[in-house]
Amino acid sequence: MAEHSSPADHTYTIGYAMLPNKHDTFVQPSFIDLAARHGIRLVAVDASRPLVEQGPFDLIVHKLYGQPWRAQLEAFSALHPDVPVVDPPAAIECILDRFTMLDVVAGLGVAKEGAMATPRQVFVGDAAALAGGDDADAVPGGLRFPLIAKPVEVDGSAASHDLCLVYRREGLRGLRAPLVLQEFVNHGGVLFKVYVVGDHATCVMRSSLPDVPDERLHDLAADAAAPFANISLLPPPAAGDAEMPPQDFVNRVARELRRALGLHLINFDLIWARDADGNAKYFILDINYCPGYSKMPGFEPVLLEFFLEMLRGRPAHEQPCPGAGSGLGAEAHKTEVEASFIPSGAEPKQVQA
Ligand SMILES: Nc1ncnc2c1ncn2[C@@H]1O[C@H](COP(=O)(O)OP(=O)(O)O)[C@@H](O)[C@H]1O
Ligand SMILES: [Mg+2]
Repeated sequence: MAEHSSPADHTYTIGYAMLPNKHDTFVQPSFIDLAARHGIRLVAVDASRPLVEQGPFDLIVHKLYGQPWRAQLEAFSALHPDVPVVDPPAAIECILDRFTMLDVVAGLGVAKEGAMATPRQVFVGDAAALAGGDDADAVPGGLRFPLIAKPVEVDGSAASHDLCLVYRREGLRGLRAPLVLQEFVNHGGVLFKVYVVGDHATCVMRSSLPDVPDERLHDLAADAAAPFANISLLPPPAAGDAEMPPQDFVNRVARELRRALGLHLINFDLIWARDADGNAKYFILDINYCPGYSKMPGFEPVLLEFFLEMLRGRPAHEQPCPGAGSGLGAEAHKTEVEASFIPSGAEPKQVQA
């Protein structure tokens, strides 16, 4: 167990469980010092040892996945039912699968009002669907190019962020199933990343993939597909490139999403684009659990305040996402889609090509 600071009179101890390379989420010397000044001691959990033998903790925050770790948390919670676990593993699981992570969006008030959508997507479970089978021109799920191919699982590995932009049918052939194919939505190359910490939401503008003009889809001399990863490392867009979404709207989406998922620590990717009917709206592309908060301006006081509120005990009013209670929802869903590909979401939405 690594202890990062030891001032004399700590009021609270937070146990954090994260892979060492994920400490940039927020566990950095400056945050550890700030927390210490407010009576919070941050202690690294040793996930290779029983959690129940460690502590005492007043709160657990974690970004570890898998059944053994989940069993550890369950054993800990059974023994210490009053110690908050941020966040419940069953709720986190809902957003570790790219095919199901966006399902929650259709049920949000903002989506029902037509202000928010998700790109159309399908799950492709086997290579035959990518090869084209008898009909070499058929596209899984009837999607329209360009497409983005994404690994299904988001497990924190670098490989789970290896994506591929596919311009035409031929570009699907080299891809490896299982994957999620999602329609690429032109959005002017600007992305909004919204960092959510409890009731607080911060929106940051980032560069994204440039628009794909129609001619590119028919340019047979150009590559049929282009792999990419980590475009978040691109330089930020120039000021004036795009308008920030109104803060009220950002707050509302963050609140609805967070409550529907039953999670406190997330970020999500937002773009402003047109749907197939030409209606401009926001699209959510991606939702992540406990992101790298070090990239959020002013993250330290926000996280500190959140932890203090959790530690002092707040009424919990979040609703878990469907299936979050037992985790069976996500598992059952996976079995169901294994065979080949099926369209995602209750109401698939056509997007601009
Ligand atoms: N359907 C889409 N349409 C347009 N751009 C997309 C789409 N999906 C992803 N992108 C771009 O690719 C980036 C990475 O995709 P994302 O699904 O967020 O994966 P990651 O897990 O790597 O963050 C997004 O932030 C966005 O810039
Ligand atoms: Mg993303």
